[in-house]
Parts: sequence; C-alpha cells; structure tokens
Amino acid sequence: MAWVVIKFGGTSVSSRATWNQIASIIRGHREKGKKVLVVCSALSGVTNLLSSWCQSGDVSERARLVLLEELKARYHTLASELELDPACLSEMLALSGQVTTAWCLSQRPAQQAAVLALGERWLTVCGEAFLKTQATNIVSQDACNLLSSVALPRSESAAYLAAQCGVNDNPELQEKLNSLTANVVITQGFMARNEHNETVLLGRGGSDASAAYLAAQVSAECCEIWTDVPGVYSANPHLIAEARVLEKLTYDEAQEIAAMGAKVLHHCTLWPLKKAQVPLYIKQTLHPERSGTYVGLDVEHGRPVIKAIVVKKLIVLISIDAVDMWHSIGFMASIYACFEKHGLSVDLTSTSEANVTLTLDKEANCMNAEALNAVLADLNTFSKARVIAPCASVSFIGSRVNAVLSLLDKQKIYLISQAANDLNLTVVVDDDKAEKLVQQCHHALIESTRDWQVFGPTWNELQEAPKKAETPWWQKKREQLCELAQGKPGLYVYDRDTIAASVADLRSLKAIDHLFYAMKANSNPLVLQHVYELGMSFECVSMGEMKKVRNLFPDLAPDRVLFTPNFAPKEEYAYAFEWGTHVTIDNRYPLEAWGDLLAGQSIMLRLDPGQGKGHHKHVMTAGKDAKFGVPIDQLEDVANMAKDIGCDVVGLHAHVGSGILQADNWLELASCLVDYRSLFPKLQRLNLGGGLGIVEKPWQQALDMSAIDVHLQRFKSAYPDISLWLEPGRYVVARSGVLLASVTQIRHKADQTFVGVSAGMNALIRPALYGSYHPIHNLSKHGESLTMTAHVVGPNCESADVLGRSRSLPQCDEGDIMCVANAGAYGEVMKSGYNSRTLSESVLV
Ligand code: LLP
Repeated sequence: MAWVVIKFGGTSVSSRATWNQIASIIRGHREKGKKVLVVCSALSGVTNLLSSWCQSGDVSERARLVLLEELKARYHTLASELELDPACLSEMLALSGQVTTAWCLSQRPAQQAAVLALGERWLTVCGEAFLKTQATNIVSQDACNLLSSVALPRSESAAYLAAQCGVNDNPELQEKLNSLTANVVITQGFMARNEHNETVLLGRGGSDASAAYLAAQVSAECCEIWTDVPGVYSANPHLIAEARVLEKLTYDEAQEIAAMGAKVLHHCTLWPLKKAQVPLYIKQTLHPERSGTYVGLDVEHGRPVIKAIVVKKLIVLISIDAVDMWHSIGFMASIYACFEKHGLSVDLTSTSEANVTLTLDKEANCMNAEALNAVLADLNTFSKARVIAPCASVSFIGSRVNAVLSLLDKQKIYLISQAANDLNLTVVVDDDKAEKLVQQCHHALIESTRDWQVFGPTWNELQEAPKKAETPWWQKKREQLCELAQGKPGLYVYDRDTIAASVADLRSLKAIDHLFYAMKANSNPLVLQHVYELGMSFECVSMGEMKKVRNLFPDLAPDRVLFTPNFAPKEEYAYAFEWGTHVTIDNRYPLEAWGDLLAGQSIMLRLDPGQGKGHHKHVMTAGKDAKFGVPIDQLEDVANMAKDIGCDVVGLHAHVGSGILQADNWLELASCLVDYRSLFPKLQRLNLGGGLGIVEKPWQQALDMSAIDVHLQRFKSAYPDISLWLEPGRYVVARSGVLLASVTQIRHKADQTFVGVSAGMNALIRPALYGSYHPIHNLSKHGESLTMTAHVVGPNCESADVLGRSRSLPQCDEGDIMCVANAGAYGEVMKSGYNSRTLSESVLV
C-alpha cells in the first residue's frame, strides 16, 4: 500500500475548521487505499514565541514560567476548540519544564533546538487526540524516531538549527512505518535527530522539508503541502495585486522560487522530491477544491516565459576589494575558505579584476554579528572587505530570463547573477528598492504577457467566488454536433441563440448610441447574415471586408459601415470615401501625403492613449511600441494639419486592446478622448473601440454590462451632445462557436499522454499564438468520468500544434468527436492552409 505524505502549516492546524478539513483530507486518501503520513507544524506564532524567549537572553525563572503559561494557554485554547480533555497535554507541560530549564542552564544550540521543537510536539498531541475522535486509525510517532540528520561541515548552530537529512529510499523507515498497526501516522515537522540522538531542527519553515525528506525516504506516491494560500504565486500577492497562482512548475523552477525567498515553500523541499521523483502539490487547506500548484516530472517547460519574481529581504552583501588579484592563483579559494571556516554559506558571487562581491543568506546561515565580524577580520588580512546592508535580492525565474535586463537600466544594482541554465536571473539592490522593482517588472513581464497555460487566478479573482456556470449551448446540442462532425476533418459550428444573446447584452448598454460589429472577429457569411438581421452595423478594416458586406447586404446604408484600417493602401480609403462610410485615420501619414483625397472629407481620428490592455501582449494596441494611433503629443499638430487641408475631424477613437475584463475601461477611454475636444471644434462622437472580453477560465468574472453602462451614463450626463460608439468583435461571437474535430491517435511518451485530433493550429491558431485557453471536451464520451490527463494536439508538423495542455478527459478513443469551445472569435478567420489541411464548410445551428 502506497504512502502519501501530507503536511499542514501553522495556520492550517490552528482551528476547529482547519482540523475538520484535515480529517476530511485524510479520509479522502484512505478511501483511495493510501496510507497517510501527516506532518504538522506548530500553532502559528508559537515558534516565534519560543525563539524570542531564547533570543531575549532572559533566563530568569519568572520569564521561564511566563513562557510556559503562554504555551499552555495557546494549546489549551486549541484543545478546547477541538473538544479534547486538557489532561492530554500534561505530559507536554512536564517536558517543556525540563527543556526550558536545560536552556536556562546552558544556552547552547542543542538546548535551543530542543526548546524550539516544543511547539510541534504540543501540536501533534492535540492532533492525534482529535483525529482519534474522528474514527481515524491513527498513531503518533516522534519525528526524531523517523528522520535523522546527516553530518555536514557546519557551524555548531547550523548543525542544530539548520540541519539536513538524507533523501535516499529508506527501507528501514518503510519497515518501521509499515509495521505500525495504524494506517495514518502523525508526526512533527521541523525536526530530526542527530547521531547523538539529540533533537536538531531543519531551519525556520523546515516542516516542508520534513515532509519532503519523509516522502523521498518512503518513496511516497505524492507529497502535499497544505497551507493558507492557494499555491505558489508569481510574486508576493500582498505586494502585487496582479500576482497569479502558478498552476504547474518543474522541480527546477519550484526549487529556484523556494531558494530565492518565496515564503510558501522551504528551500530544502524540492531536491529530495526531485531526486525521488515524488510529485508535489501545494494546496489551500480551507479550499481543497482549488487546484493549487503542481510540481512534477511531467510538467513541460512550455513557451519561454518568466514565471515568478521573488524577493529575499535583509540579505548581507560583502564587497571585497582585492589588493592584488591580477593573475593570482587561489585568490577566490582563500576568500571562500574564510567563509567555510566560519560555517557561512555563500549565496551569490560576482567578480571583476579588482573586486569580488558576494551575498550571504541570513536565514540559511544562522548569522549573527559575531560570525560576520569574524569573517570580515579574516578577509581583511589579505583584502579590503566591507559590508553593504541591508540589501535585497530580486530573482526572476523562468526562461529567457535576460529579457529582464532592458527593464533595469535606471536601477542601482550591486550584483547581478545569471546561471547558464537560464532559470534564474538575480539582482541585488538596496533593501528599500526591492518592492518597487518587483511592482514595475511584474506588470511588464508577467501580467502583460500572461500565458493561460502557466498562470492561474489572482488573489482577488479567487476571493470573488465564480458564479455557477450556465450549461453551455454545445452541451445541449451535443448529439446534433456529433452527427454534424462525423467524417469531417474539422468543422466550425456557430449557435444563433448565443450570438443573439450577446447582441442583446450589448444593446443593454443604453449609453451607447451606435454598435458596430468588428467583423474581423468572424466574417463567415452565415454569421454576418445573422448579425445583420440582428441590426448591427459593421466595422471593417480592409477593402475585402467592405466589399464582403456590400455584396452580402446590398441595402446596407454606408453610414452603417465604419472603416478603421491600419497601414492600408490609399485606394482602400478612396473606396470607403466613395462609398460614403465613416473613415478612421490612425496616424498622420494620410493627412501629410494624401491631402488630395482627404480635403473636404469628415474623418474620425484614432488616438493612442499610451497604455495597452488585453489578454496577451500581441493584442495590446496602445503604447509606444504599438503601431496604432496618433500619440497624444502629436495631436495638436495633426489637428492643425487636418484644418489646413480642410478635413473635418468629427470623431475621436481609441481601442487599447482585446480581451479586457475591467468594466471601467471604456469610461477611462471616453474621459481620455474628451480631454482633447477643444482641438476639434466639429467633434460629435467618440468611438470607444471594442475589446470586451469573455470568461475563458472558470475563476474569471464576466464583464458586468450594467457596470459598464453606469460608468458610461455618468459620462453621457456630463457630455450630452457627444454620441458614443462601440465596435466589439469577440464579445458578439466568441462563445457562439466551437471547433469540432475527431480523435485520430492516442499515444503515451515519457509519462505523458497525447490525444491527437484531426484539426489543430491550421484551424485554430490562438493557443499557439497567444497561449490562449479554450475548454476542450470529448462530446462522444460526455458525462463519463475524467480518467486521463492529456495534451490535445493537432495533426500539423509543428511542436506548437497543441490545442490544450494537460487536460482532464474521459478515456478517449479514435473517432471520438472533440469540441474546442469559445472558438467563435478569431478562430475560423485566422485559419490557414498549413500542411494543405482543409476544414469543412461551417454551419450555423
Ligand atoms: N476595434 C479595433 C480597432 C480593433 O483593432 C479590434 C480588434 C476590435 C475593434 C475588436 O476587438 P474585440 O472586441 O474583438 O476584442 N486575434 C486576437 C484578437 C485581435 C484583435 C484585433 N483587433 C485574438 O484571437 O484574441
């Protein structure tokens, strides 16, 4: 029977609610036939309490008794919440008396370790007693009977307070655990025994490491770390509201994140698990339904992205000026020898001809002023060493990490370090500058290039519980879809009612005077016909689009057409003016070069408000790197140019990106545009663009149309003479379309399963181009339990030909019909003839 190791942190063991949850998590594993090893931290705050007492140096009897009272009070409170007899804790009180007395007599690291370990010991007594009341067949084992530390060349305090254990398979431990009659074992985290049978500690936060060592030694099926946060974040969510849960990490990425200072995982957690190939889950105790972070061998590196920015505060930097380093042999060795002699481990190093700069990690080194002065004295015998503190390291973890460098030009950096494995680039800056740096970089590197395969929800998104999703249309029409898709290489199907409902949603925006459908999102004639019948006007970006609607709808009045091109040739503008459509100019060139064409015309002018938005950097259309829009600083100039050639600017336009879910975006644009009203005396209207996003991932909040309307109505009441236009594409059609394809082959390779389907990036390029997430379902096996995790891939000759990674699916067989949902926008219009693969004629149902 396989073991699973589950570890609970301080807040996860602190209340009746969390203990009920622990009991239920254990039950879940038992029902699957697993043996469970439960590793517990101390109640939160207790280790700090014990540590402060040790550090205070107050060994008076009074102080000792105050400490014992406090300890007793905290655990008695827990015991009473758990409805336990407080008498179960009397042995712990006696033990605490002995251990604290020993510290008062001799303040050596061995005694300190015994004191600091008390919190976990009290806790497991409560835990065992409570779980027994829950009919759990449980036994408690002191962690010192299970884990032993390995002897390393360390200082005395490091040996007792930051010990390490073995990671190899341990048959002796397995036999010990298997011989117990209970199927559930509870033990303390944070501690082990040394070769003298004394208690040693694994460093602050070391309970994670305990779980990892135990999981490795018993070859556990998995290790779960249950905590008070929803998983590993891309940055500290208290600091960065945009920080996102990282859904999957490789061992190496997780190791870098833990090592570089993320609090959620102790830095010794990963390598035992990696070595033993035990998968790790980091989950939230009070929300077991949330997926958390998964770390395992089967996690692919995927597209190169920076996944996390981690800060380590209060580190010590030592700058060593060499007196004579030029071509000297063994200089670096003599520097490192000084640190070795004082038991200090060096973290980062950089060198130049005349200087060596390095950092020491305070926590890993159990450092104090004494150790630091001793090492400085030794270094100063052959160089000039000085301490620069406090500093902070800021580490960028992922791949292509040197993308960061362009963001650092104005930063004062003491040291920079990048390893050849391209997983981590770390800079050391002044401690008080670190947080600002993370804020700047997180937005530029993570939020704006967000990849749905990697990044999960933000803290705020998780707090707002997702509304219960309605049954999607394709589920209701499942049988019809299966029939339609039979024998077809790939087929888009669109749903009338869903399009009509989306248009009705948009119509509920009372502040909007004219709605244009951005037909670039989907220009299938069936869709256009339906949208036309629903009374929408059309936004076109090319002569091709204009001609298409003109041919399809000969009665379409030209003032229901808006031409909004970008870098189009002159003749396309000429065509639009001739037909009589609205025309948007999005840079100064047409005014400069084509005065003959624009003289006497009325136009709209597209501005660049300066900051793009959207689901991916490729779809952000404002800011200095974007090719769209007149920058604000050229506006006056352009206004004069238009006046000079006798061209009336009757409207201003802004569209900052696509896939926006913030309801205040359009008010923001209106407010920005109206600021420039005085430059354009003939101004009648503002076109606020498109960009309205739809929910792609379950935790996202749908756009609240009434909120958008409330914002815009406010604007309207301030500017009643200005009409407001909107030109959405995605919102109208995205949810109405599915791509259907059939399963071609299934294969397994190095722990991974691939389900091949008959249409891939040739039909839907969004996952390959933007990392977009589209739900994928097996329509033929609808309702069956999801027993496989597979990458759903297309038949094209490219590794990017993946429609969805690591999807939970029922058992898939050749010929099953697969449905890729939310594919109605930018799906069919962006298809290609790649690999000479074709799609069948689309259908509207
Ligand atoms: N107006 C302008 C000026 C635009 O450039 C766009 C889209 C829209 C309106 C409509 O935006 P929507 O409401 O659909 O977000 N291929 C990408 C989307 C590119 C959007 C291009 N411009 C995707 O698949 O996500």
